[in-house]
Amino acid sequence: MAVISIANAKGGAGKTTVALLLATEFAQAGGKVVIFDCDPLAFAAKWHESPGAIDGIAVVTGVTFANLGANLRAQSGQANHVIIDLSGARDALIALAAGLSDLMLIPVQGCAMDAQGAVHVLDIIGQVANNAHSHINHAVVLTRVSSLVTTRAIRSVKARLAERNVPLLDTPIIERSVYRDIFEHGGSLYTIDETKVSNLAKAQRNMQGLALEVLRLVNGQPHLQSSGSLARICYKAPDRIPQPEGDAGRPPAARAFRSSDAAAIHADP
Ligand SMILES: Nc1ncnc2c1ncn2[C@@H]1O[C@H](COP(=O)(O)OP(=O)(O)OP(=O)(O)O)[C@@H](O)[C@H]1O
Ligand SMILES: [Mg+2]
Repeated sequence: MAVISIANAKGGAGKTTVALLLATEFAQAGGKVVIFDCDPLAFAAKWHESPGAIDGIAVVTGVTFANLGANLRAQSGQANHVIIDLSGARDALIALAAGLSDLMLIPVQGCAMDAQGAVHVLDIIGQVANNAHSHINHAVVLTRVSSLVTTRAIRSVKARLAERNVPLLDTPIIERSVYRDIFEHGGSLYTIDETKVSNLAKAQRNMQGLALEVLRLVNGQPHLQSSGSLARICYKAPDRIPQPEGDAGRPPAARAFRSSDAAAIHADP
């Protein structure tokens, strides 16, 4: 089971949008996906209840610091992917999620305010890694990027990330009305009425590229060829479960953190 957290301290950075789009890509490829909705407003759950949702996705609401560990244990052996939409989560929940995730994904819009929200998450990740003497797998993904130009603001965000040696996904999430439509009205890039949206094929390619890159990071395979289909890479070979259960499939650094930290968390009644 792969655990992917989506975090940015700033509201409206596009966390829930990334969570939903990634979930639908994984499900479309045949995976079983569970979204942990940490937002009291439960936008992911509302999206899931809307018509047009695809099979293979469940949403767990009310996920908090107190129950995250138990919720993850409940999914072990059930889901292929857990996506934690951290929403405006408090620092303690972000820190806990960082320690329990295979990948922390930090969506950043091309503006300075948004980069500050990301820097706050990066600081938390750094503290957790220091405390655990371990590496926390993380990467920034640029969101709401114009398909037309690389703006000065985006270049400035990229420069700030490079200064801090922060990994940046090659695939940005483009600003597309179809992503907003799905967020607001439900469904996915594969169930939406294609006569009512423009550039659907481009949006699908954008998300397939993102999903492949995310899985490459989760699997710790920097040289994974992105030419294969998502389903083949993740679920069809050698079997439909992409990662072994338990700690065996995790990168060594993450394994070191989990065995000690998760035990402490789970021991807490
Ligand atoms: N790539 C995109 N293209 C178009 N619209 C987008 C994109 N990403 C996000 N949006 C829109 O921006 C708004 C905020 O996005 P979203 O709710 O995903 O942010 P968030 O980080 O989850 O916010 P919060 O912190 O409140 O949970 C939504 O209306 C969403 O539809
Ligand atoms: Mg949200």
